[in-house]
Amino acid sequence: MATASAHHTARTQADEAADEAARTAAYEVVFDAAVAADERIEPRDWMPDAYRSTLVRQIAQHAHSEIIGMQPEANWITRAPSLRRKAILMAKVQDEAGHGLYLYSAAETLGVSRDELLDKLHSGRQKYSSIFNYPTLTWADVGAIGWLVDGAAITNQVPLCRCSYGPYARAMIRVCKEESFHQRQGYELLLALSQGTPEQHAMAQDAVDRWWWPSLMMFGPPDDESSHSAQSMAWKIKRHSNDELRQRFVDICVPQAESLGLTLPDPDLVWNEERGHHDFGAIDWTEFWEVLKGNGPCNDQRITQRRRAHEEGAWVREAAAAYADKHTNRAVGSTSTTGETGATRA
Ligand SMILES: [Fe+2]
Ligand SMILES: [Fe+2]
Repeated sequence: MATASAHHTARTQADEAADEAARTAAYEVVFDAAVAADERIEPRDWMPDAYRSTLVRQIAQHAHSEIIGMQPEANWITRAPSLRRKAILMAKVQDEAGHGLYLYSAAETLGVSRDELLDKLHSGRQKYSSIFNYPTLTWADVGAIGWLVDGAAITNQVPLCRCSYGPYARAMIRVCKEESFHQRQGYELLLALSQGTPEQHAMAQDAVDRWWWPSLMMFGPPDDESSHSAQSMAWKIKRHSNDELRQRFVDICVPQAESLGLTLPDPDLVWNEERGHHDFGAIDWTEFWEVLKGNGPCNDQRITQRRRAHEEGAWVREAAAAYADKHTNRAVGSTSTTGETGATRA
């Protein structure tokens, strides 16, 4: 009797495992077909675990970059040369905070909490773009960041508006509109400096000299060293390779630098008629990996400042939570009063 029952249980478990595998396989067919047909995957849809974890990693890293990226520019808000420039810069830095918030919300639709992601940022278990580990030494850096860093961000992010994951793709549409404003304000700021006094022109040139190469590194390692690229392209999270996007960015920047009257710091930068693209010099990948490992000029400063801002903001989060609780309780209270009244009447 006991043997028969055990045998029965074992068969049932095996059947369940087989059913589960068949279900997963069927879901996978639906998922693959949706991706192939350029449909959006939505939060409640079935998705492979690796697709989910890739998105969490990418969206979290993107969100972290938006909020850490506020620091180098916020450094110049109090020293902006005019009220107009100060207002523009404040709006821009505030936009970046907003981008962080859309992106944390998009990540939350994948089943992770914002607290968990911030913990990972603060403890160094998740990364942010290494570009923000460089210092902003002069006012012209605000212009160079807008033109080059936000410009590189747009080149990267426009294809993400067609990313297969719905909430991420939709967040990117608004983010890209704002990034386009950021890029133009940087360009306009640099143009004013470039056409200003010889000292202002030199300041603009110096900023471009320092930000050009790190901007090219923003597209990530070369295609043959990029570990996640192939799978992300197959899932249509990514639409173009790192090297393709980098090339597109270089081709966009060359004529813009000419109109600015500034020189891009690369003696090997030359139009290649045959390829229909600009050739450019070798990127110092040793520097990229060092900054990524935490050895950039401002890594410690950025993460220390972020942790401090988080701690100092604890009272705001507590107050907001208490306020939300009070309103939830009030709503629940009023519902139950109505219920009691109804019960009395009955
Ligand atoms: Fe942004
Ligand atoms: Fe931006």
